[in-house]
Amino acid sequence: MLAGKTALITGGSSGIGLATARLLRAHGARVAIMGRDSARLARAAAELGDVVTIEGNVASLADLARLRTELENAFGGLDILFANAGTAKATPLATTDEATYAQIMDVNVKGVFFTVQAVLPLLRPGGSVILNTSWLNQVGLPGRAILSASKAAVRSFARTLSAELLPRKIRVNADSPGSIETPLHRDQDQSDEAYAAYVARVGTQVPLGRMGRPEEIAAAVLFLASEASSYMVGAEIVVDGGRAEL
Ligand SMILES: NC(=O)c1ccc[n+]([C@@H]2O[C@H](COP(=O)([O-])OP(=O)(O)OC[C@H]3O[C@@H](n4cnc5c(N)ncnc54)[C@H](OP(=O)(O)O)[C@@H]3O)[C@@H](O)[C@H]2O)c1
Repeated sequence: MLAGKTALITGGSSGIGLATARLLRAHGARVAIMGRDSARLARAAAELGDVVTIEGNVASLADLARLRTELENAFGGLDILFANAGTAKATPLATTDEATYAQIMDVNVKGVFFTVQAVLPLLRPGGSVILNTSWLNQVGLPGRAILSASKAAVRSFARTLSAELLPRKIRVNADSPGSIETPLHRDQDQSDEAYAAYVARVGTQVPLGRMGRPEEIAAAVLFLASEASSYMVGAEIVVDGGRAEL
């Protein structure tokens, strides 16, 4: 399905990004993954096999400039960008400080915008850009104001950047995961029992009765990355077990 195509996945060393790297590779794409932690990148590369790893922070424009150079050296051009790297944190209105606001917006909003800008010269006609937003972009969950607003901005980027890149025959769409079981949800010092209880509790809040698997998001990204979605631009695929929709 993706033979001969090249793909960059930011945040490809864990969770949704790693599952997507696995799937795009299985469908014939050459894949590069980007993340901040070199050990995490190395572990992912050991699992994935032939993959390009690029260490860097999507919130740093210097890192994104280096990303472009390294990608160009490795692939020449780019067909698929999955702008997936992101962060999540509770941000209650009464207690959230400015630094937390800036950290979430820097990674989730600035990081996505400037990642697309950085790789723009490499994107080939027929290319596909997929932005990872969240089910939270369309609901009002208490304590999640900044995360939800950041993901609403990403949803908006999918529309605007799509219109802007149409003349270059590059499609931009978004995928919108619900609660997906990834390391994002697990505290470092959390016991297996406490984590299992958390997963079960969140599952009860989802119409389908469980948290999602990263592979269930990767399947939507593969569709958006491929010609199978050739008539989709500026759109969003919601994969959330019914959480935002029912
Ligand atoms: N899991 C969910 O329930 C869920 C729901 C809706 C949306 N999402 C979105 O899905 C995306 C992936 O999340 P996940 O659940 O797969 O989380 P995850 O398992 O924690 O993976 C996050 C990935 O992003 C990388 N990353 C984080 N901050 C980065 C930065 N500033 N620069 C470069 N890379 C960075 C991480 O690597 P390093 O830490 O090494 O940099 C890691 O590879 C995020 O945008 C998240 O908001 C997740």
